[in-house]
Amino acid sequence: MSVSGSPNTKQEMAAAVDVVLKSFKGDKAELIPILQQVQLKLGYLPQEAMRKIAGFLRVPESTLFGVATFYAQFKFVPVGRNIVKVCRGTGCYVKGAPRILEEMEKLLGIKDGSTTKDMEYSLETVACFGSCALAPVVVVNDRVYGRMTPEKARELIKGKE
Ligand code: FES
Repeated sequence: MSVSGSPNTKQEMAAAVDVVLKSFKGDKAELIPILQQVQLKLGYLPQEAMRKIAGFLRVPESTLFGVATFYAQFKFVPVGRNIVKVCRGTGCYVKGAPRILEEMEKLLGIKDGSTTKDMEYSLETVACFGSCALAPVVVVNDRVYGRMTPEKARELIKGKE
């Protein structure tokens, strides 16, 4: 997912949230689609955005956070322009996923669950992509790369630079 062109200032963020909220009625059933739309615009769900959404839906912020944290898709800290996801499912694990993750961590200079300082990359692990036949699998910005090796991982990252 690319977040380039995301709003930077608080005012821009607030304006982006307002644009999203305008297309909803304020019904509690709209909670998930609203969070998805806001995250699509901002790349993540900043606290100010969560506050606005809670106000719009007339639910306590704590309830909103409770629901949002239940879903792995929602992020509460900024993510990189490129999201690298390494599968850690059993199928990939036995085919060498730990070596791929290790290589990615080394290449990007970050640990699983973090983002590079220049906001270029975020590194995550996922339980299974459902593409086990291609194990070990890496997904970069929703594009699937199968039968990964540490060498292929290096090429992949080099190709993105
Ligand atoms: S275990 Fe990796 S894609 Fe299923």
